[in-house]
Amino acid sequence: MSGTRLNIADIRQDYKLAALDEATAGDNPVSFFQQWFQEAEAAQITEINAMTLATCDSQGMPHARIVLLKGLENNGFVFFTNYDSAKGKEILSNPKVALLFFWKELERQVRIEGSIEKIPEADSDTYFHSRPRGSRIGAWASPQSSEIDNRNFLDANYSKYELEFSDMDMPRPPHWGGYKVVPQRIEFWQGRSSRMHDRILFVNDGKEGWYKRRLAP
Ligand SMILES: Cc1cc2nc3c(=O)[nH]c(=O)nc-3n(C[C@H](O)[C@H](O)[C@H](O)COP(=O)(O)O)c2cc1C
Repeated sequence: MSGTRLNIADIRQDYKLAALDEATAGDNPVSFFQQWFQEAEAAQITEINAMTLATCDSQGMPHARIVLLKGLENNGFVFFTNYDSAKGKEILSNPKVALLFFWKELERQVRIEGSIEKIPEADSDTYFHSRPRGSRIGAWASPQSSEIDNRNFLDANYSKYELEFSDMDMPRPPHWGGYKVVPQRIEFWQGRSSRMHDRILFVNDGKEGWYKRRLAP
């Protein structure tokens, strides 16, 4: 590329930190995910729970954005959002999604694919009430993914709900809650030198539980 100081094509990183083999990955990919998550935590990586969520709309057009992992419930990956948002509508028309973690400090990527469902309302209530007050008001004030005229609309809406809930316990908005991604495929990627990376893919065929395969990088 011309006109930039840095030639983008020259940006590259050789990965040398670690290796991944079949024995280390074990037999349960959710347990192994938890192990890698703990290692990312121990490495003091910030926002290790930030994951890319990919959905497809009714036309087959993919859409991706970051959401925050908030728990692993019954082997499902849980996050919270607005059910009326663009992603909420896409999930309604196609409940198959992908999640992606990239922990660059550990030269690791985890790819998760599966089906998605809403979590029980009681669980969404519990999490909603654990959030800071400002975030709870925000969930009421933002018609997520809708076009709005200007910033002022948002600020005015925030003030309106701040006042409305000033002297009462704020309920969870009916349009806000959790989803759980139930994984069918989980791939662990560990960067290696000369692009000879390690990739271990787990697949759950719904019959015999998880099996694993090594993939070429
Ligand atoms: C670090 C980070 C964390 C985010 N976490 C969430 C989240 O947990 N839930 C959420 O609804 N949006 C979250 N967002 C905003 C989404 O990326 C996105 O803008 C929003 O959900 C609207 O997406 P949609 O229009 O595709 O529905 C986050 C964004 C970033 C950058």
